[in-house]
Amino acid sequence: MSAPLKIAIVTGSHRETSQSDRVGSFIEGVLKTQHASPFIISLSKNPLPLWDEGVWSSSDTWTQKWNPIATQLQESDGLVVVSPEWSGMVPPGLKNFLLLCSPKEVGHKPALIVSVSSGIGGSYPVSELRTSSYKNNRLVYIPEHVIVRNVEELLNGDMPANEHDETTRARLTYGSSVLLQYAQALKSVRSSAVIDYKTFPYGM
Ligand SMILES: Cc1cc2nc3c(=O)[nH]c(=O)nc-3n(C[C@H](O)[C@H](O)[C@H](O)COP(=O)(O)O)c2cc1C
Repeated sequence: MSAPLKIAIVTGSHRETSQSDRVGSFIEGVLKTQHASPFIISLSKNPLPLWDEGVWSSSDTWTQKWNPIATQLQESDGLVVVSPEWSGMVPPGLKNFLLLCSPKEVGHKPALIVSVSSGIGGSYPVSELRTSSYKNNRLVYIPEHVIVRNVEELLNGDMPANEHDETTRARLTYGSSVLLQYAQALKSVRSSAVIDYKTFPYGM
């Protein structure tokens, strides 16, 4: 049997206690049942400063704060990006994280978007991530995504509380299993001789 696929679950809320972290933990449990090896990168409490030019010169701050995360990402085969909807947007800390990511960390790796809303929102982060967070880092968002609505009522225990909880759990399980298929398949894209970041360091 091949080694379990390593999946980074990035939880994008910078609140100290967030529903996105809770959703991330649920997905971690799902991926474990699917024989993957998931780990969580939580942006809770803003662990990363805002991007500055020091990134390009590997300043001490960035070596200290970013390199450990970069190493984890480099070793991963795919990502789950959990984003709350904040004023119809992706939280700035998550956009900052995606700005810090380069092809070295996430290029041509698949990512499942999971957006989170305490109400009936959640579609804007999906749209925003698909529009503006992959051009240079070459993250590959898969066509499946999951919107977790009325999040506080869901994923609270082993058994679904109602039909909405049941369908959301099924979506998360399905989305995770599709992600793992892409994670396996895109390995050959990354190792192919076609990928050329030297000639094409930035997307158009
Ligand atoms: C600053 C802020 C803005 C928010 N704006 C929205 C919004 O536009 N739409 C929405 O559905 N929920 C909104 N919410 C509520 C979140 O959906 C809710 O906090 C949910 O638990 C996900 O965020 P969390 O992961 O930070 O807990 C907002 C929450 C915060 C903190």
